Amino acid sequence: MSADIGVTGLAVMGANLARNLARNGYTVALHNRSVARTDSLLNSYGHEGNFVRTESLAELVQSLERPRRVLIMVKAGAPVDAVIDELLPLLEEGDIIIDAGNSFYEETRRREAALREKGLHFVGVGVSGGEEGALNGPSIMPGGSRESYQALGPMLEKIAAEYHGEPCCAWVGTDGAGHYVKMVHNGIEYADMQVIGEAYDLMRSLAGLEPAQQAGVFREWNTTDLASYLIEITSAVLEQEDELTGRPLVDVIVDSAGQKGTGRWTAISGLEVGSPVTTIAESVFARSISSQRELRAETSRVFSAGINGVVSAEELYSEQDAQQDFVEDVRKALYASKLVSYAQGFDMLTAAGSEFGWELDLRTIASLWRAGCIIRADLLDTIMKAYEVPEERPKNLLLAPAFTEALNECLPAWRRVVAAAATYGVPAPVFSSSLAYYDSLRRDRLPASLTQGLRDYFGAHTYERVDKPGTFHTRWSEDRSEMEM
Ligand code: 6PG
Repeated sequence: MSADIGVTGLAVMGANLARNLARNGYTVALHNRSVARTDSLLNSYGHEGNFVRTESLAELVQSLERPRRVLIMVKAGAPVDAVIDELLPLLEEGDIIIDAGNSFYEETRRREAALREKGLHFVGVGVSGGEEGALNGPSIMPGGSRESYQALGPMLEKIAAEYHGEPCCAWVGTDGAGHYVKMVHNGIEYADMQVIGEAYDLMRSLAGLEPAQQAGVFREWNTTDLASYLIEITSAVLEQEDELTGRPLVDVIVDSAGQKGTGRWTAISGLEVGSPVTTIAESVFARSISSQRELRAETSRVFSAGINGVVSAEELYSEQDAQQDFVEDVRKALYASKLVSYAQGFDMLTAAGSEFGWELDLRTIASLWRAGCIIRADLLDTIMKAYEVPEERPKNLLLAPAFTEALNECLPAWRRVVAAAATYGVPAPVFSSSLAYYDSLRRDRLPASLTQGLRDYFGAHTYERVDKPGTFHTRWSEDRSEMEM
């Protein structure tokens, strides 16, 4: 039996994608470095569809229909190159190699260019949705040539998540575009989780709301504009009791957040393409600070006097329903910060599109994130609408009417929460950094004019004037007269 597609790398994500393909009627050839893993998949799930068992990449390639489609699902980095090198002598012109891991987009660009020279297609595909998504329908963000999408697209669309009957899969752009879009998805994922964490911390530290009570709060929030997968699972995590101690599980989990790199890449790329993704970068730094546990322990002893401890909501709000009001303020601060992080994510996609020559369609990208992926949220529908009419596309999402309205609605609460966090010493880096981004964008004059003056003073870096064109320098160490350069 010849197979429609081959999958190599059968750890959980690879195995689940292979099963998803087979369940959708495709014949899937399987390969894994250790054959035992292939056999274990076949033993447990072989009945789910048509699989072809192979013991080597050569055998895998031989079993495939043309053009051959080989999906690699191995650890990002050198292992991807190793598999490509092994596949190269086995493939023919027109065949397609698909990398569905979380690869760095620059590596995808390099691999695509190298393989294109050899007449092969290389498709970097962003896949989101974790293990469950891979099995039941992930959000899929394929890059690579348009031509390769003709041979591959229908298959990917069939196994993708659906949102009201539409597949959450579409070609996003050439070479590394798919992995870039997935990287930005992950940057937003970092910010989404950080704002949830800050809301939880503020409600606990300042209003004394215990995790189990907060599970109810988040459940309630999930019926508002905030409705999203991450808000939904926050309730589940917060209400979980530790089996061993009976304490809230969140209290026994070490408070050091891991990271595999995609958030960091998003922040770095934001700097490189000149898009100020402050909210996203701050979320990455928040994880870095969390991992400095020893330093935090020591510092908390040194500066303990400066920490204002738990205060009650009544101290913050004089009204009777103080706690309820504070919780509502936190919800609005969370939502406003979330709007900023999406605005930044889409802003960097625009910048990257120009930088790398990708025709990224922001509306399509928003549509891909509506189901299957980790950041799926009602907000994506609002974003799609903002990009609906090409001539009316906002320069920045904050200027989309729905965003403007929501930010105006949330603003007083957002400021109160950030002020309370600063007053009582509860860190809310992303709430406050998002507010600073908003405030910076809405200022028509920033102190950057002084920065320019200083740069000109010590380094003759020159400046421009508001009242006439040209480049100028003041002779600071001479008579301080101005000269045009
Ligand atoms: C997804 C996730 C997935 C994974 C990230 C997490 O969309 O399915 O983003 O790709 O959870 O790699 O990355 P960190 O380990 O850096 O949080």
